[in-house]
Amino acid sequence: MKEIIVIDDEEKILRILSSTFGNEYKIATFSSPTNAFKYIIEGHGDVIISDIKMPEMSGTELLKKLKKKNIRIPIILITAFGSLNEATQAIKEGAFEYIEKPFSITTLKSMIEKALKLKDKAKHRLPIEMIGKSQPMKKLFERIRKIAKVSTSVLIMGETGTGKELVAYNIHKYSPRAREPFVAINCSAIPSELLESELFGFSKGAFTGAIKDKKGKFEMAHRGTLFLDEIGDMQYNLQSKLLRVLENKTIERLGDNKPRKVDVRMIFATNKNLKKLIDKGLFRIDLYYRINVFDIKTPPLRKHPEDIPDLVKYFVSLYSKEHNIAKKIFSKEALEILMKYSWPGNIRELRNLVERVMIIADEDIVSIETIFDLLDDISFNKLTREREISEKELIIKVLNETGWNQSKAAKILGIGRFALRYRMKKFGLYKKNF
Ligand SMILES: Nc1ncnc2c1ncn2[C@@H]1O[C@H](COP(=O)(O)OP(=O)(O)OP(=O)(O)O)[C@@H](O)[C@H]1O
Ligand SMILES: [Mg+2]
Repeated sequence: MKEIIVIDDEEKILRILSSTFGNEYKIATFSSPTNAFKYIIEGHGDVIISDIKMPEMSGTELLKKLKKKNIRIPIILITAFGSLNEATQAIKEGAFEYIEKPFSITTLKSMIEKALKLKDKAKHRLPIEMIGKSQPMKKLFERIRKIAKVSTSVLIMGETGTGKELVAYNIHKYSPRAREPFVAINCSAIPSELLESELFGFSKGAFTGAIKDKKGKFEMAHRGTLFLDEIGDMQYNLQSKLLRVLENKTIERLGDNKPRKVDVRMIFATNKNLKKLIDKGLFRIDLYYRINVFDIKTPPLRKHPEDIPDLVKYFVSLYSKEHNIAKKIFSKEALEILMKYSWPGNIRELRNLVERVMIIADEDIVSIETIFDLLDDISFNKLTREREISEKELIIKVLNETGWNQSKAAKILGIGRFALRYRMKKFGLYKKNF
């Protein structure tokens, strides 16, 4: 499902847009552009809708920041009456469109569709190949193959960007149901009332607006696989209904009490800790045991950094085809840094970084400098703090890279020259010693 990122300091707009478009798209809302930026950097989003005037950072500034990172997600700006100048300026800066407040939903909808088409043209089909030779990935593949053979429910757990959706698809692909439909639905993206009718379908007249009968996802997935993503976000009362279907293997469309048999293999995924949700009374324990017959855990990327070189190679060739540009090689030092980074956005973040490198870097052999330019400052701090490479080790590395050119090194490290000198003194770093 395509994801729209909505940024506005006015909560009302966030609410309206997520309830209007939540049925069709995954919606991520932010009242803070800085948080939105972090989220986008991690590789999320297919379209951005952002207000222009916000206290923390303007929509235009956000656009510039994204451009600097070479993130090219179409951005639609919302302007208030009277800031048309800024909007036209933003178009020159590369914004996809702007829309004036108060705006018509229909107009916005068609803008979103246009923006998505633009992005689709550039998008490669979803790669179903899964890369990884490390122990955790080998274990994962083995588990996928074993679980694929049976029709039991599976629960996939793992952090964002670790490949849960890919795992779900692969389970289907390796299963005897491979030729039957694979139907996916994201429980967090759809308001609860709609989710119910999406899952179970409805008959004509079941509620206002139900102008004809409609099949739900369960029926669509008949004989195949139904993937319920972000199951932790499903509302409690709907969970009971789901449980009943899993037990009886029959569904009833809304407004119609004819039971219909469905033969569906269920796969669930979540990046939340369901046990904690159970403790808080937000998730049904009986449902948990029902869906968790088998579990699969997708490992965070920082737990298998040895796969990074292969993943990079894979994404390089993917994007070289997609953007029709020559392949690049990542220098040993660049790969080393990538292997030390903590990757909060996991494989998705790596994939996006490689794409940006492919587009932005002029060099055939990607240097450590390019990597530092593209990993944003926040990430850089994480790199030093979370991965515990000592500051000293990092400074030595960068100094060696730059031939002990202090101003260059300071720039790469993202600190001032004086700060660098202070640290060199503190750690006793002098060129002659290295
Ligand atoms: N092992 C892998 N090899 C190649 N590409 C991968 C691998 N794992 C994940 N990817 C890619 O990383 C991206 C994120 O994967 P996916 O959408 O499956 O993650 P997710 O766990 O469902 O994340 P979220 O919780 O944010 O929905 C996708 O582009 C996917 O193709
Ligand atoms: Mg997912």
